[in-house]
Amino acid sequence: MKEIKGLIFDLDGVIVDTAKYHFLAWKKLAQNLRIPFTESDNERLKGVSRLRSFEIILEIGGLTMSEEEKEKCCTEKNNLYLEYIYQLKSDEILPGVRKFLSDAREKGYKIALGSGSRNAKLILEKLEITDLFDVIADGTIISQAKPDPEIFIKGAKLLELPAESCIVFEDAAAGIEGAHAAGMYAVGIGTAENLPKAEIILPGLKGITIKDIINKLQIHIKE
Ligand code: BG6
Ligand code: MG
Repeated sequence: MKEIKGLIFDLDGVIVDTAKYHFLAWKKLAQNLRIPFTESDNERLKGVSRLRSFEIILEIGGLTMSEEEKEKCCTEKNNLYLEYIYQLKSDEILPGVRKFLSDAREKGYKIALGSGSRNAKLILEKLEITDLFDVIADGTIISQAKPDPEIFIKGAKLLELPAESCIVFEDAAAGIEGAHAAGMYAVGIGTAENLPKAEIILPGLKGITIKDIINKLQIHIKE
């Protein structure tokens, strides 16, 4: 295993639980379009781009729209979503994340955000953790959404590190797939059932240190 020097973090579902706000915003939009949309449908949108998320909702409702109309609805959804994000409090950061990031930084690891969200910078500001990141790769600098590896490749490039010396922290199967396609190991935040392909699976980062992750990775590789 190459020496790990960089850590790339997904945002939604790894650092903060924004899925509930995405759900509330999509639900309002779906209601206006008379499309039934449940929390279990919302699971299908995790890690998926804004436009693709809306296309899934249209599929659920059996509707079709022009690209222009879709774009308009996505903007409407984002405005609804932003109403929640403006209210986001710094204590909504998921348990253990702040400690994990600052400990890893102290130990000399370089930290990147690797999120497909175009609201990522605002969310980091709201959580008051922008300064814990060396670089930010977000939805504003990519042309292909996960499972494409573009976001992770860009993250590593911004960190000036080779892909093989970075590991990715992800809660979505599409993100794990993207990390592997970028040539990186992936830590899945979730369950083995949802993220069967991740090298390491954890329910969250509470009580975990970067040393634990590196040890687990070494054991996994030897197996
Ligand atoms: C991902 C979320 O991180 O970002 C998806 O998991 C979301 O649910 C995507 O659709 C795009 O986010 P945004 O904030 O640009 O609409
Ligand atoms: Mg995510």
